Amino acid sequence: MHLHRYERIWLIIGGATLVLFLSIVGVQAFATDAHPPGSLVTVDPKTVTQEAPFNKPSLTQVGEKEYKAVMVARMFSFQPGQMEIPAGSTVHFQITSPDVVHGFEIAGTNVNMMVVPGHINRATYTFDRPGEYLIVCNEYCGTGHQVMGGKIIVK
Ligand code: CUA
Repeated sequence: MHLHRYERIWLIIGGATLVLFLSIVGVQAFATDAHPPGSLVTVDPKTVTQEAPFNKPSLTQVGEKEYKAVMVARMFSFQPGQMEIPAGSTVHFQITSPDVVHGFEIAGTNVNMMVVPGHINRATYTFDRPGEYLIVCNEYCGTGHQVMGGKIIVK
């Protein structure tokens, strides 16, 4: 098959670009140990708020400047709705929903995940900067969606 010279050049550029982009994504994924959220941790959304640990959503200290936040997102609030930690603390969040799909985004951080009924989603973040961090639900979840929020106060 005969290809025009320019056509060949553009094919090579296109192919090289594709290989370059895929390589960057691949290297980055392995370097940062990134992987899509698994659906390995499942719970029954009907009984999740009656059983430990989600029957008592809370923030507990698990080490020096290390906390575990067991949270429930439901129409139309987060539990616990407000948490206070000292600056420099690392918080391990685990969250689920007993009703519908919600969002869990901590404004100003890279914590942003979906909260899906039947699944426990996790995120870890270190709060180095003092201040007030807004937790917002960024998945439309019903008539009270816009009031669904929470707060993390870092002192
Ligand atoms: Cu919950 Cu929007």
